[in-house]
Amino acid sequence: MTNLSQTELDKQTVTTAYARWAPVYDLVFGAVFERGREAATAAAEQVGGRILEVGVGTGISLPRYSANCRLCGVDISEPMLRKAQARVSELGLRNVEGLWVMDAEHLSFPDESFDVVVAQYVVTTVPNPEATLDEFARVLKPGGEIVLVSRVGAEAGLRRALEHWFAPAARKLGWRTEFSFERYKLWAARTMNMRLLERRAVPPLGHFSLIRFAKDDGVREARSRASA
Ligand SMILES: C[S@@+](CC[C@H](N)C(=O)[O-])C[C@H]1O[C@@H](n2cnc3c(N)ncnc32)[C@H](O)[C@@H]1O
Repeated sequence: MTNLSQTELDKQTVTTAYARWAPVYDLVFGAVFERGREAATAAAEQVGGRILEVGVGTGISLPRYSANCRLCGVDISEPMLRKAQARVSELGLRNVEGLWVMDAEHLSFPDESFDVVVAQYVVTTVPNPEATLDEFARVLKPGGEIVLVSRVGAEAGLRRALEHWFAPAARKLGWRTEFSFERYKLWAARTMNMRLLERRAVPPLGHFSLIRFAKDDGVREARSRASA
């Protein structure tokens, strides 16, 4: 059994890891995560409006959004964001409002600022995933959606054992290998106005899922409960 303290991530480890990944990130993780990004950006486009990408990284997804979405991106890694900024300039992405170095767990945006919060391959890399999801819910407008693509740990069997065995090594690379879907369900169940909408497996290897949450309009919800 792996000791939890050995598997938890700290921000220093993550920033050091992504400073190393930045020059080669697109080459190593570009194609392999493409189908997940395709699914997440399509889901975000369905809602549209003002979209926040948390852990935007090298900005690899930004060209996927249509010109009428307004995009904001944040990441804790300055070297990753420099790549994103270069991409925005090179491609002339005029729908990008701004890119900021910011911690997902402490977003400096006012409440209810965005129609969609997207986080692709990010939630399992932050030290406090539930606190981070709380921040996503805070900056989301009622009627908006949180769209995640995330690694979901196996519930049982050999894969689960391997994930726990590999956890300490993964931590040094800035990842968590073991992260159960139950944590997302529990988070939604205890969070006011947030509702799990969908979980859908995305490639590669069925280890990743597209996960969507909706933020209900509190007044509308109360009315429909009262009339039921
Ligand atoms: C696996 S990469 C994913 C990048 C991009 N979303 C993609 O689809 O390829 C994880 C990103 O999350 C960022 N990240 C990790 N912890 C963070 C935090 N606490 N706040 C903001 N960004 C964070 C990393 O710097 C890195 O750019």
